[in-house]
Amino acid sequence: MTCARCVHYSVFAVCGRLLDLHSAGRRLKEKQRIFTSMPFSNLAQYNSGFIKGQSNTRKTVKMVRAWYHDGADNEPRSHPHMMEPCQFISLEDLKKKTGIEYFQFDADTVDSNEDYQKLREKRGYKNEDCVELTRAKLPNYDEKMEIFYKEHLHEDEEIRFITGGTGYFDLRSAGSDQWIRVEVTKNDLLIVPGGTYHRFTLDANEYIKARRLFTELPKWTPINRPDGDKHPMRVQYLRDMGADAP
Ligand SMILES: [Fe+2]
Repeated sequence: MTCARCVHYSVFAVCGRLLDLHSAGRRLKEKQRIFTSMPFSNLAQYNSGFIKGQSNTRKTVKMVRAWYHDGADNEPRSHPHMMEPCQFISLEDLKKKTGIEYFQFDADTVDSNEDYQKLREKRGYKNEDCVELTRAKLPNYDEKMEIFYKEHLHEDEEIRFITGGTGYFDLRSAGSDQWIRVEVTKNDLLIVPGGTYHRFTLDANEYIKARRLFTELPKWTPINRPDGDKHPMRVQYLRDMGADAP
């Protein structure tokens, strides 16, 4: 026979569990909201701090960083290649100079993130796959890394969502033609417009894992410089950026 006190405690425990689940759900939604579509200027506020309103979870948000490449091509590409002193570029300026778009999503919860799904729908990214760049898993590792580091452009956008590891995207400034290095880490999503000259390298950790998003069929054939100079997508890109064609 069940006593009244046990029933009372059981109901209390169930209610408590439901409240816990409700709070957890609210915390997850809040986390997703903060991670989603954060403008560059707002992201800067989170650079060294914790997500607001989450004193219990205290999750640190790392901000993507960009700087002018020092041009020291005699040193390993995996080095940061910062000038002395380093010339960092704000994310607003990065967009103005290269056209790249930046988003941040929590990679651990991204599949249930409504804003990530909305971004995919809005941009027509119907498909995605996953790549892992590391010596152990990528056949012909050195050869592939050479291809990635050759300055090139694509007809389509290049979209990369980093789910683990680190690396460097180098992007040519549309106006000055200077290299700008963007350090990517977990949770960063970059959209590199078609027609942007760029290259990629791993850092000294030699590991990155990323989702590659695309519309119908991926068009990732690299068009190396200078072959891409007269490509209609390059001409269009420079026009969109308000820069003169070479
Ligand atoms: Fe590329």
